[in-house]
This record gives sequence, C-alpha cells and structure tokens, in this order.
Amino acid sequence: MNTAALREKIVAHDLSLTYVNAQTDTRHTVLKRFDLAVREGEFLSLLGPSGCGKSTFLNVLAGLMPPTSGDIRVDGAPVSTVRQKLGFVFQGYALFPWRTVRRNVEAGLEIRGMKAAARRSEAERFLRLVGLLDFADHYPHQLSGGMRQRVAIARALAYGPEILLMDEPFGALDAQTRELLQQELLAIWEHSATTVVFVTHSIDEAIFLSDRVAILGRGPGRVKEIIDVDLPRPRDAALRHSPAFVALRQRAWESLSAELDAQPQTPALSGAQHG
Ligand SMILES: Nc1ncnc2c1ncn2[C@@H]1O[C@H](COP(=O)(O)OP(=O)(O)OP(=O)(O)O)[C@@H](O)[C@H]1O
Ligand SMILES: [Mg+2]
Repeated sequence: MNTAALREKIVAHDLSLTYVNAQTDTRHTVLKRFDLAVREGEFLSLLGPSGCGKSTFLNVLAGLMPPTSGDIRVDGAPVSTVRQKLGFVFQGYALFPWRTVRRNVEAGLEIRGMKAAARRSEAERFLRLVGLLDFADHYPHQLSGGMRQRVAIARALAYGPEILLMDEPFGALDAQTRELLQQELLAIWEHSATTVVFVTHSIDEAIFLSDRVAILGRGPGRVKEIIDVDLPRPRDAALRHSPAFVALRQRAWESLSAELDAQPQTPALSGAQHG
C-alpha cells in the first residue's frame, strides 16, 4: 500500500459550531465533538439526515465560517490560510450572471494566470464533459437549474483544486445525467491527486463514488461511523448490482435509518430507490 496515500490532508478535531441568533437570544448547536480526518487524494462522502450539519461542516472547512471551538486544518495549516487550495460546488452556488457559460468556466483559470487560448480550450474540454459545449455562449439566466449546476461543476473541475468540496452537486439533475456525471467525476478524479469531500443524500451515489463514507448523526452533528468502500476501481454501472455493493448499501442504510428514526420528519433518501 502506498503510504503517501494515507497522509491526512484535512483534520477536524473536536469541532463545535453554535449558531447564535442575536435577535431572539437563542443558540443552536449544530456540530459537537465533530472529528474527521480526510486522507490525501481520497474520495470521501458525508451521508446524514437533513439538518445534521453537513453543509455547515463544509462551510467551516471552506474557511467561510469559523468554528465555535475545536480545530480544523488543511496540510497542518488553518483553513483560513489555504483558500486557494479549495474548489467548491455548493447548493445553489452562484455563477457570474454577467459572464457567458464559457467565461464562467474560465474564471478559475484566469486566477491561475492561464493564457487566453489555453483557457478557451480547457473551458471547452470541461463544457464538453458536462454536455454543455453548445451552450458556451449562453448566459446563466438562459439555462435551467440543472444546466447551471453543471456549469458550476465544470468551473470547479477546470480550476483543478487540491481539495474539491461538493455539496449535493448532482441533487438537481435527472437520474440519467446524474449517473453520467458521477462516472465523469470519477474519471477526472482518478487521473488527479484531488481530495474530494462530497455531500449527498443518496446512499448509492456515496458508495459508488467513495473510498470511505462518513455517516453523520444528529443532535448535534457528529461523525457516527465511517464505512470503508473496498470496491475495485475503475468503477462502472454494473458495480451497482454486485453483491459487495448491495451489502455496503444495506450497511449504510441501517446506520442511517437509526439516525432518521430519531427525528420526526424523514427526508428523502434517493439512494433507497434501488434497494
Ligand atoms: N445561518 C444559520 N443560522 C442559524 N441556524 C442555521 C444556520 N444555517 C444552518 N442552520 C441550522 O443548522 C442546522 C444544520 O444545517 P445544515 O445546512 O448544515 O444541514 P445539512 O446537513 O446540510 O442539511 P441538508 O441535508 O438539508 O442540506 C439546521 O438545523 C439549520 O437550521
Ligand atoms: Mg446541506
């Protein structure tokens, strides 16, 4: 085994985060005793009930929100100092409305100082990948929600960050596009050294993509269990029907169900539909 692959890229230790509402003088502790280490180059998914703090954790990891207590580091440094290593695809993450699709995807490459011609061909490569090359000269308002999300994905991938944070990036897509993009994301990731932290509500998606799946619990949010996904790579659609995959899905389902039972409302779990 390659020991370099086991180096810890992201370490969150005993994190807590409490939202304070100054108007009503109320507090809401969302994360507590949150421990997680993400290995360099791994694909790790976070799976947990709605409201358990997944997006909050990604925001803390992105350096957009300081934790109330605890420690979170990337390559041993505070997250606030490593923003340039990070790329995001967040829920409803905005595109630049005044830029065409092509120029949106080029944005990250401009920051990297890439020349115009190279930028153009890189952007086109990623637009082709997400099936939007024909829309390169459209503006975001001319696209559907799912198409905009694909532009955001192309932009993040083109930027080529060391760490890619994805918050339900495929949630708004139809099932077919979703599986296609899962496959493409894996193909890109397998040829890169990118560390991916991926939030999803789909058990199938988490298992299909990941090296490890962290199951989060609520009240307040914490990592309850980590499931090793020891399935071979490269992965293709047929894998979803293998006994090993089905067994992992069952295990994740049971672990998650215990968390869902503990709350009044049950969020949609799209991963269950194949079960
Ligand atoms: N700015 C805020 N102020 C106060 N409470 C907040 C704020 N943002 C989120 N919360 C609360 O924190 C909890 C966790 O929210 P978060 O968005 O992190 O959950 P999540 O796991 O991403 O949920 P989902 O799966 O629905 O996206 C929720 O109860 C939410 O109401
Ligand atoms: Mg969320």
